[in-house]
Amino acid sequence: MQDLKPLLVTTPIFYVNDRPHIGHAYAATIADVCRRYAQLRGRPACMVTGTDEHGQKVAERAKSEGLLPQEFVDRMAPRFRDMAATLGVGFDHFIRTTDARHRETVARLWQRLVNQGDIYLGSYEGWYSVSEETFLTEKELLEGNLCPYSKQPARRVSEPSYFFRLSAYQDRLLDFYRTHPDFILPKGRYTEMVRFVEGGLRDLSVSRTSFRWGIGVPGAPEHVIYVWLDALVNYLSAIGGLTLCDKHKANTAASEASPVTSAFWPPTGESLHVVGKDILRFHAIYWPAFLMSAGIEPPTRILAHGWLTVDGEKMSKSRGNFVPPEPLAQLLGEDALRYCLLRDIALGSDGDFSHERLLDRYQSELASGLGNLASRILVSLVQKVLGGAVPAPAPTLDTDAEKALRAAAARCARAARTAYEEYTFHRAIEAIWELVAETNRYVDKRAPWTLKAPEERAELGHICYHVLEVLRIVSVLVSPVMPRKAGELREMMGLPPLTPTPRLDFWPEDSWGGLQAGLKVNVKHGLFPRLETAVISQFRPDNAIAAAISQNAAAPAAAAPKGEKPMNANAADTLAQRTTAKPAVSTQQGASGSAAKDTEEAMSALIDFDDFAKVDLRVGRVISAEALPKSDKLLRLKVDIGETEPRQIIAGIRAFYAPEALVGQALLVVANLKPRKMMGEISQGMVLAVKDGTRLGVLNPTIDAPPGTRAS
Ligand code: MSP
Repeated sequence: MQDLKPLLVTTPIFYVNDRPHIGHAYAATIADVCRRYAQLRGRPACMVTGTDEHGQKVAERAKSEGLLPQEFVDRMAPRFRDMAATLGVGFDHFIRTTDARHRETVARLWQRLVNQGDIYLGSYEGWYSVSEETFLTEKELLEGNLCPYSKQPARRVSEPSYFFRLSAYQDRLLDFYRTHPDFILPKGRYTEMVRFVEGGLRDLSVSRTSFRWGIGVPGAPEHVIYVWLDALVNYLSAIGGLTLCDKHKANTAASEASPVTSAFWPPTGESLHVVGKDILRFHAIYWPAFLMSAGIEPPTRILAHGWLTVDGEKMSKSRGNFVPPEPLAQLLGEDALRYCLLRDIALGSDGDFSHERLLDRYQSELASGLGNLASRILVSLVQKVLGGAVPAPAPTLDTDAEKALRAAAARCARAARTAYEEYTFHRAIEAIWELVAETNRYVDKRAPWTLKAPEERAELGHICYHVLEVLRIVSVLVSPVMPRKAGELREMMGLPPLTPTPRLDFWPEDSWGGLQAGLKVNVKHGLFPRLETAVISQFRPDNAIAAAISQNAAAPAAAAPKGEKPMNANAADTLAQRTTAKPAVSTQQGASGSAAKDTEEAMSALIDFDDFAKVDLRVGRVISAEALPKSDKLLRLKVDIGETEPRQIIAGIRAFYAPEALVGQALLVVANLKPRKMMGEISQGMVLAVKDGTRLGVLNPTIDAPPGTRAS
């Protein structure tokens, strides 16, 4: 039995300046698996997730969408809550940095650091873009120290700023790392952080006067508390605030608001922060130093995961390969998505997410692997031949094949336990699927379907029992990764759900024989139904799922939630038909002062002329235009592009054009896109358009060129 100290698992709090994508989903899934595994072992565990809502970028984003910052963040935060639900990620508390409790905790922590003498007033020097009214990092600057947004020279300026005496914590941090060798995992990251701190620490600027959207410095309201000092404190706010952490008093007040209390923090509990490698330094260095200064124990463990790329490329809006988790979870089910996110990548390493691999894994490992194993026994034999009840084993009929299967199940449970405890979830999955494969081979070898005669019933029952017992064991082993499917599998076998219970360890090691004969089998549908061609075809880049993905990338971040009319329901359908949209069509992102990160990414996404030449751009003339019934976004256009028949093009421009105003207009058409279906209608091309804030206009040739003329 593992350590039973209560465990707090946290995800990073997500920036709300954009909508959730599978990178966020990956982080949340990892945290959820940690929580579920602990609970499965009888350990009290809870989880906190939430949103990081302050800072200049959020304020700018709100402005670009014509909203007040608070309005903007109020629209965005539910998207991250919904993401958790979409993924089956359960949390006990959702914290927002605009919550009153959090704001108060930050202000009080600040005061503690001041009382400790760890905060002093100095001046922050940096590159400032006058036109954009913002500080820029060295990395953001273009050559010649130009601002990447205005292309004007940035100025070296300084502004008053409070500093935290981080340098004073170097030795204490190094001591702490020495005495807590598992503080940072994977090990390679631990070494990296230790080296970094050994290299010397500079004091940290912890306030800004250049923007207002944040928590004011107590007593100096012209300063806003630096976004990381604000954000990291969420972990304390979530467990009840500052005083409640002090000396781990029994926490009653906090439990009224949230089931998560300071008992989950060391030393009474253990806290595990799941973070991406890009934010490790903040968690592994700044955060313990802040806490040491405030007299609070550092967290127990920081688990740093790697980054996901998409189809081999860094995910970014400028590449148009921004993948939201929802459409995938809807098509394949949340557990299939969770499985695939964790299947390939060793935690800590970067990994690639590909739609094709997702589909392959679903078909071969879920549908043909576990799904087929369950249905070939449960439906074809237990329900059809054995009267629908779990048969009893018949020890006298045991063969080497059964012995080997039992040994494999025991091996697998041990391997999966080690893997979960070492946070190597891909290994846990590997071990479980090895057992599934072995069991499928066992079934092939024993060929139970040949045992039809009444005198062979006992042997048939013995074989089926073995497979069902493996399935019971698998339902437990796999439950942290695939909680819903584990529950479905158990229900099919008449087993009770795995309800987390403190001190009750469900782990099925050395538990062979736990399945009771006589349980009523009840299969209503396959565990992982084979995908229909229509669903499979949606994974092609030119089809609906790709469009959903691109539309998500193209639409404004704070577009009104479902049911409301989306703001700027714009060029998504015209400009963003492909998952991997080329930079040539990346103007779809709207006019907001795009982040420097995006600029960098856009630069590295430059294409060769040959790539551009593949796009068949032609002048078209609109022959007819009409609104598509049941859609408030789409128009059906017939466009002459110099072929014998006009093309039908479905364009998402209804909000911007009355259909009749388009008839006769010349415009530019991408003529060699694969056709795709939209609202049941085939679209045979794409109309180019430009969007400026809330306006959208189709592109016209400036000379009177006949339809079909190629543009280059
Ligand atoms: N708000 C900060 C975190 C503050 S925690 C006190 C932040 N937010 S974020 O939204 O930008 O990122 C949230 C998490 O998502 C980070 O851990 C980050 O590493 C992770 N990911 C963002 N993109 C990712 C991928 N492409 N792949 C995997 N994870 C990535 O940072």
